[in-house]
Amino acid sequence: MGNETKTYISDLKDNVEKLVTLSGWLYQSRAGGKVLFLIVRDGTGLCQCIVEKGKVSDELFEQLRHLGRESSLMVTGTVRAEERSVGGYELAVTDAKILCAATDYPITPKAHGVDFLLKNRHLHLRSQRQWCIGRIRHTVIDAIRRFFNNNGFILIDTPIFTTIAGEGEQTLFEVDYFDRQLHLTQTGQLYLEAAAMSFGKVYCFGPTFRAEKSKTRRHLTEFWMVEPEIAYIDLAGLLELAENFVSFIVSRVLLNNKAELEVLGADIESLEKIKPPFYRLTYTEVADILTSEKTAEFMAEQLAELKNQKEQLEKKIEDLEKQQAAGVKKWKAEKIATEIMEIRSGLAELDVRIENNPKHASLAAGFEWGKDLGGSDETIISVMHDKPVFVTHYPKDAKAFYMKVDRANDKVVENFDLLAPAGFGEVIGGSVREDDYDVLLDKIKHEGYDVKTYQWYLDLRKYGSVPHGGFGLGVERTVAWLTGEKHIRQCIAFPRLMDKVYI
Ligand code: 4AD
Ligand code: MG
Repeated sequence: MGNETKTYISDLKDNVEKLVTLSGWLYQSRAGGKVLFLIVRDGTGLCQCIVEKGKVSDELFEQLRHLGRESSLMVTGTVRAEERSVGGYELAVTDAKILCAATDYPITPKAHGVDFLLKNRHLHLRSQRQWCIGRIRHTVIDAIRRFFNNNGFILIDTPIFTTIAGEGEQTLFEVDYFDRQLHLTQTGQLYLEAAAMSFGKVYCFGPTFRAEKSKTRRHLTEFWMVEPEIAYIDLAGLLELAENFVSFIVSRVLLNNKAELEVLGADIESLEKIKPPFYRLTYTEVADILTSEKTAEFMAEQLAELKNQKEQLEKKIEDLEKQQAAGVKKWKAEKIATEIMEIRSGLAELDVRIENNPKHASLAAGFEWGKDLGGSDETIISVMHDKPVFVTHYPKDAKAFYMKVDRANDKVVENFDLLAPAGFGEVIGGSVREDDYDVLLDKIKHEGYDVKTYQWYLDLRKYGSVPHGGFGLGVERTVAWLTGEKHIRQCIAFPRLMDKVYI
């Protein structure tokens, strides 16, 4: 290794025909008789490195031929533009240095079970899917900060040890704080309301903890939430802010991560449609939709469509098995085997949906005004729409104590949830806050909370109370929607689930 430049794979485009060195890990390799195809990754991308016998020493050629997946190495060679290669460039290798030869890397190209991959998350993070999701998450978080910072919001870091409950005492994680019981934060909102009365427009962004006793694909016990809070705003103003905010996030991901979205098989065309205005429905309208004849028909059509998809996948497996039986090269056989396993896991998901469809249809048909929307109800509404849907004005008894009672109809509150399309469900929850001292005091008592603990929160309604409100967006649910990931555990590097904490 001499006068070559150290380069990242993402910068190969500026180094065509130059001699460069990449520092990375061996992602995949394939050997012909006199040539090796090493796919190297370096954190910024993948690059095919071609090693021809005779261009490097025989000893190195043999070492590289037997090098295991995820070995670390530095490769030197000349950059060539090659459309057919991953990333559009490849390296004609002249030298290489092996730093750590890895043998028996536990994650193989074969499909593995979810449990196995989560136990090996420290390694699985290196997979292409996790890499793509992680980069998209990074863009989402960057876009969140940009949006608020560029729109006059002040960042307030709210505490993680808290004395109050924002979202119900059932999901609090208790902490023994010296001789006192505190809990981990469920929301920064209540503290943020105090800050909004000083700064006007504020936001907090951090980890959030909920002892959710639900093992669903939408719940983590530790997740990241961003919450803006604004003084002098009404419900219409909040919806407008939320749709501009979400559209901005989507546009940043489309700008920065098209390639990753493609690898993940995300629905880019649908994401391109995400622009204001979003749909607006009241809770009461949603209740009517759920119990309508049209929804029953819609669910029946969906079931037929799912069964059709199942048939097609089964046929695809049959075809692949025929190809296998006809005899193919070893690498091709492995590729087919992986494909079959992937289709099987898709089939298993379809089976679950086919089994759930009638249950969800009957839950919707029996929906009664007054209940909170369940996951399956949200899914139905969200599948019926091609853009996000705001659902506003929920029954007050189904929602948090701090939400402002609608003065025109005291059975409902001035709140909203934003449901992402294509079945992903709630990504935002928000509301106008109760700003009347006496009404709020009654609600706190009604919840059975200790008024003393909430006195500071009540004070905000005593000293210059103003109409105000805000919302919270969950990062993992947003990333799941944008990437098309079914389970939000894939959308955070080290997930915490109710029943499982792996590493
Ligand atoms: O609807 P939630 O509970 O609203 C609040 O916490 C309000 N205090 C926000 C506010 O008005 N400032 O939660 C907001 C969002 C949900 O829409 C969802 O995206 C996410 O946080 N979320 C979760 N994400 C993953 N796992 C969980 N267990 C979640 N619970 C809520
Ligand atoms: Mg909610």
